[in-house]
Amino acid sequence: MRIGILTSGGDCQSLNATMRGLVKTLYQNVKDLEIIGFLSGYKGLMFGDYKIMKPSDFSGIINIGGTILGTSRCPFKKMQVIENGFNKVEAMIQTYKKLKLDCLVVLGGNGSLKSANLLAQNGLNIIALPKTIDNDTWGTDYTFGYQSAIDIATNYLDQIHTTAASHNRIFIVEIMGHKVGHICLAAGIASGADVILLPEIPYDIEKIAAAIKQREMAGKKFTIIACSEGAISKAEAALTKKQYKLKVAAREGHSVVYDIAKQLSHYTDSEIRVSCVGHVQRGGNPCPYDRLMATRFGIEGASLIMNNDFGKLVVYKDNSVTAIPLIESAGKLKYVDVNSEEVNQAKLLGISFGD
Ligand code: F6P
Repeated sequence: MRIGILTSGGDCQSLNATMRGLVKTLYQNVKDLEIIGFLSGYKGLMFGDYKIMKPSDFSGIINIGGTILGTSRCPFKKMQVIENGFNKVEAMIQTYKKLKLDCLVVLGGNGSLKSANLLAQNGLNIIALPKTIDNDTWGTDYTFGYQSAIDIATNYLDQIHTTAASHNRIFIVEIMGHKVGHICLAAGIASGADVILLPEIPYDIEKIAAAIKQREMAGKKFTIIACSEGAISKAEAALTKKQYKLKVAAREGHSVVYDIAKQLSHYTDSEIRVSCVGHVQRGGNPCPYDRLMATRFGIEGASLIMNNDFGKLVVYKDNSVTAIPLIESAGKLKYVDVNSEEVNQAKLLGISFGD
């Protein structure tokens, strides 16, 4: 059996742990096995840049962040565009056929899963594993990388808390998540943030100012605002997609937290500071929960391969690691449910969502 494997899109902490779980299970149960590791994501598959892996390559990596194969972003919208006469999809199919692969395993987030589905539609045997710190893959309650990112964002907010309290400041902390706010919601609640701003719940600056005022009246002199990268005001939410894109471009690289800081300064005399957690949310080593989930996802991926059950995405649903047809998930995002128990509980606790 010859299996190709690649990691695609933004990295996360438990890519290596997932590959180890999958490959170790295969080595344990399949007699004649060769693993081909494609380097730098889909680029390796397109350009035939690969490495024949040894079992020892997958040893001692359960706790190591990043990816031993490297990764890259190959946007789905460009996958079917012929550039300088180069047909990327055709090139990937040719590499697969030339190497006589029995299956290609793709570890990726939403864009990468769309590309994996495209390859499956073109007749390749594909097994996909849901990787992203954002936890926004449709069809799974959990994506590996999510818990490690929550831990980092929560620790970061904890550290901001003490300095905010010492200086009586308002801190607006940017947390990853352009389209969905799962990390921000979880880390915000876990760190005791006072305001949580998500892409799914457009904010009104006056409501945020009112929440700060309420705290001040209760004798609390500092405020922590956990803000998703993709937080959006009610006025921005009413714009067309094109108008909103222009507005974001006009920020010239600055994110929404600076807009909010500027607007809030008209409502308060307190000092306001901005801080961004950034890419450390994807860096470093996976937390134990991620190692556990990654390993279980990997084992399920290997089981699918051994059963010739292709075109599947491994998912975690109802406390069980299982699989769904990849085509059901590809192209769909799992947003924060604004009416969820978690959001309602946070509101009962007094957290403002600025709505
Ligand atoms: O998709 C994961 C993610 O970390 C998002 O939360 C974030 O917006 C984006 O990647 C950052 O991407 P890049 O690494 O390309 O800057």
